[in-house]
Amino acid sequence: MRRCSSSALIVGACIATIATATFVTARAQAPRFRTQDAKAFDDAIGANSAELMARGRQVFRFDTFGDERFWGDTLKLHQAIEGVRFGGVGFGVGPATALAVGLKVDAEMVPNSLLARIKSGAVDLNDPANTLALINLKAVLGVMPFGPTRAGGLQSIGITCALCHSTVDDSVAPGIGRRLDGWPNRDLNVGAIVGLSPDLSAVANLLQVDQTTVRTVLNSWGPGKFDAELFLDGKAFRPDGRSAATLIPPAFGLAGVNLHTYTGWGSVPYWNAFVANLEMHGSGTFFDPRLNNATQFPVAARAGFGDVRSADDGITSRLAPLQFYQLAIPAPAAPEGSFDRRSAERGETVFNGVAKCSTCHVPPLFTEPGWSMHSGEEIGIDNFQADRSPDHKYRTTPLRGLWAHQKGGFYHDGRYPTLLAVVQHYNQAFSLQLSDSEMKDLVEYLKSL
Ligand code: HEC
Ligand code: HEC
Repeated sequence: MRRCSSSALIVGACIATIATATFVTARAQAPRFRTQDAKAFDDAIGANSAELMARGRQVFRFDTFGDERFWGDTLKLHQAIEGVRFGGVGFGVGPATALAVGLKVDAEMVPNSLLARIKSGAVDLNDPANTLALINLKAVLGVMPFGPTRAGGLQSIGITCALCHSTVDDSVAPGIGRRLDGWPNRDLNVGAIVGLSPDLSAVANLLQVDQTTVRTVLNSWGPGKFDAELFLDGKAFRPDGRSAATLIPPAFGLAGVNLHTYTGWGSVPYWNAFVANLEMHGSGTFFDPRLNNATQFPVAARAGFGDVRSADDGITSRLAPLQFYQLAIPAPAAPEGSFDRRSAERGETVFNGVAKCSTCHVPPLFTEPGWSMHSGEEIGIDNFQADRSPDHKYRTTPLRGLWAHQKGGFYHDGRYPTLLAVVQHYNQAFSLQLSDSEMKDLVEYLKSL
């Protein structure tokens, strides 16, 4: 190789020589991928997809990430379910009460003989023993048993993603049927369930309030709602005095969507890591320095939520399969007859035309490809919930499968009880001057998505 001189004229040639030499060496040393390896790699992609899918479903339905240390060991929720007879406290929780607070039973996990007895009314729905039996069968969606104890009770209890993001098709009885992953459980009264816990001191200490205050806040949520930001900013109520909780959103139809949660906290794996560590209290690793902002997130900053490290990380290795499975869950198609087809067709024209809905809800994703964030002013509402997030914005909600979660209303806090109310809001906020029939058509179109 030519010796490199410092003369400016030949420096370029000299660099080129070195670059070529490096390239040649690199090529010579790179392990070669033979044709049969390349074919095998295609197969590896297929096998990987099948494995991620199966593992992700398992994680979504049954994995607690070690959160039983919080829900059971710390809050002692299982003791309230058991009642004194099985080593717990109080009367215990019978299946009737469990169903009344929105817990769902996966009929496929229940032996046929027991199902038949439930159907014929032979099972005492007020006896906690029967709730324990269902939990031990892993038939109660999102509730995982640890135990059993000698008294026939549970050692501990944990929760999974399926608790809030699954429901059943009621095929056996209301609240009992086939599992539907990704559908938000708008019957689930998370606040009432957590409020059953005999010991809420951990939550009270985190929020620096007393347990009575914690119970008041939990009771203010109501069915289908949860407040993921409460444990960051300690804000339990909106300025108008109503609960600051948000609706449990669907976890279906999310593929292709860039940002997640009502206020766009991050991607699916971002939010999954957030929830598993900070909300479910699983044992893992989480890093987000945005939570160190003590002005916006006093509780999170105090508790060090911006940098969580656990000796025993049961979350990080599950993020890939969990994300893969979630992205594979499609939005369910609207059943035939659940909307007026002709009217919906006219509504589509309104949606993409005079009503300008598709400028933000871009079909077929029904959110913007790219950065889908908007201020409250841009959609004609207040900024309270947006200001509880790092970006101070609302994310354009993907609209597929709206028909499947009409209970609880629309927008992050369910402020619009019906789709017509949403359309009327836009009509007013954007001065669209839509006629009543155009608004009706728009609603039919939304129901068809
Ligand atoms: C206690 C109920 C609850 C549990 C358990 C729960 N979530 Fe959620 N999830 C919510 C609520 C409420 C929101 C809305 C949060 C917000 O926007 O501030 C949400 C938001 C989401 C979103 C965003 C959806 C969208 O439209 O972008 C995804 C994805 C999600 N959760 C997945 C999961 C996964 C995966 C798990 C398990 C690791 C899980 N959740 C556990 C209640 C829950
Ligand atoms: C400027 C962007 C923008 C435009 C234009 C827009 N939307 Fe939205 N849309 C949003 C955002 C952001 C949200 C989330 C609001 C929230 O959760 O508080 C939303 C939420 C919704 C929801 C509630 C979904 C749910 O699950 O709660 C519906 C329904 C909806 N929009 C329909 C429409 C229709 C119909 C139009 C046209 C009349 C329209 N949008 C125009 C941005 C927009």
